[in-house]
Amino acid sequence: MSPSPIKHLAIIMDGNGRWAKERGEKRTKGHEAGAESIRDITTYCAAHESIETATFYAFSTENWKRPKLEVEFLMKLLDRYLKKELETYQKHNIRFQAIGDVSAFSKALQKRIRKTEEETQGNTNLTQILALNYGGRAEITSAVNSLIQAGKSEVSEEDISRALQTPYTDIDILIRTSGEERLSNFLLWQLSYAEFYFTKTLWPDFTAKELDTILNTFTQRNRRFGGL
Ligand code: FPP
Repeated sequence: MSPSPIKHLAIIMDGNGRWAKERGEKRTKGHEAGAESIRDITTYCAAHESIETATFYAFSTENWKRPKLEVEFLMKLLDRYLKKELETYQKHNIRFQAIGDVSAFSKALQKRIRKTEEETQGNTNLTQILALNYGGRAEITSAVNSLIQAGKSEVSEEDISRALQTPYTDIDILIRTSGEERLSNFLLWQLSYAEFYFTKTLWPDFTAKELDTILNTFTQRNRRFGGL
């Protein structure tokens, strides 16, 4: 069987806090370093021949439970990141899209998100998706509710797939950093046939070189999708 090309990669970025602690720094330093890793990994994906979409778990519905100051810092960091990254998106022909319920964010941040989506919507090299205030169960529930509201009394898998917020493609590989081996309510529907890869590397230390090694291993695996 020829190796399967990787089209959609998803990443649960974990370990920013531990990375900062190891250095005697505040957790916020770890998040700042984590934002740099997103840039490096995104530009790697844009240069990769088969990757079309890279989805990053940036803020989960559970993350609101963190201390108020940390949540505020993450919001400001996201705003700064998008402002700065516009240049990277245009330079590397990357489209930016957000998934999740961003209506809970400040009006200014919502505006930044929408503006970045609009300004990059014609870019075709890679779609970078940031999951923001995202939960997989909430996404499926809202897809089903939208189908009910549209008058459906019975739904097919195809209907649900199309009603999901994530521009729908199955995910080929999911990577989680920092040694944790959980899904944490990420992209539950889209991960049905994904390969999982867990690395002990903390997210701020995760490099394009490590990703390249993981993807090379992955393309050599025999993916059968339940067949023989
Ligand atoms: C987990 O580290 C990381 C997150 C809260 C999500 C990812 C956030 C970033 C990479 C920050 C920058 C994001 C953007 C979009 C600008 P953790 O704090 O849970 O680490 P720990 O488990 O070691 O405490």
